[in-house]
Amino acid sequence: MVPRPIIIDCDPGQDDAVALFLAISSPDELDILGITTVTGNVPLTLTQRNARMMCDIAGRTDIPVFAGCEKPMVREAITAEYIHGNTGIDGVSIFEPDTPLQEKHAVEFIVETLLDAEKHSVTLVPTGPLSNVGTAIEKEPGILQHVKEIVVMGGAMREGGNRSPSAEFNILADPQAAEIMFACGRPITVMGLDVTHQVLSTRERVASIRALENSVAEATAGMLGFFHRYDTKKYGSEGAPLHDPCTIAWLLKPELFQTRLCNLSVETGSELTMGHTAVDFWHVTDRPHNVHWTHAVDADGFFELLTGRLARFGR
Ligand code: BDR
Ligand code: CA
Repeated sequence: MVPRPIIIDCDPGQDDAVALFLAISSPDELDILGITTVTGNVPLTLTQRNARMMCDIAGRTDIPVFAGCEKPMVREAITAEYIHGNTGIDGVSIFEPDTPLQEKHAVEFIVETLLDAEKHSVTLVPTGPLSNVGTAIEKEPGILQHVKEIVVMGGAMREGGNRSPSAEFNILADPQAAEIMFACGRPITVMGLDVTHQVLSTRERVASIRALENSVAEATAGMLGFFHRYDTKKYGSEGAPLHDPCTIAWLLKPELFQTRLCNLSVETGSELTMGHTAVDFWHVTDRPHNVHWTHAVDADGFFELLTGRLARFGR
């Protein structure tokens, strides 16, 4: 099998970090062309450093990492240190990574890489605010014909918001960029809170990962241990939702998920409901179907996949 070329656009973030590990552990299926970073969970200076740290921990200092937009397309930046800690990846020890930061801006990398690629060949995997993706599409709409599909973490329907009563963090952080992306016309699969809230990193699951006794598994267990504290209190659940790795898991094993083709529109007008994703799950409008909305997941199967892949990093 020829591995699928992907660009991961992220804001690590403990769960982004686990998504990176899951992707790096799967070279037969995924060819990571680059990792682009954006201001999100923490400012850009930290998200780009954190992405490079994860490449070091996973032994892939050769993956090109780019820094992108420091600010959303229109609004002021929001961050989430109260969830992720001041470093964005509290739970692991911080070090200066060997993986270099590329000079090119992330948006330039996305545009150039897509324009150079075959038609409908590259998969975009955004797991943070969509500022880089939205800016790239606005700058050079011609890139879209080179996109195979987009698999994105963001939005919510039944679960309501996690950053405001109506909105999920990634979409609220840059609703205008999200609106551009969802209107782009390429196939989009969405991992919103309705599904990520089913993927709970319980103590038992984290213990199984820790028991693998390799540095990637230890880093994962450390970060999830930290992540656990805030979210279990907030949701009264047995573990924190592991949002971002759902995107990579879908690329590796789509049969774990159930999706429905429908319309998703982003609220960009009302301050009260800014960033809300109006998902027309029951097809009550004639708005065009622009997303595969994911609504169910085999969570045990997900953790089996994750644990199995992290075991590949050895003992
Ligand atoms: C999303 O926001 C961030 O906190 C996580 O990394 C994830 O991408 C969940 O709402
Ligand atoms: Ca994220």
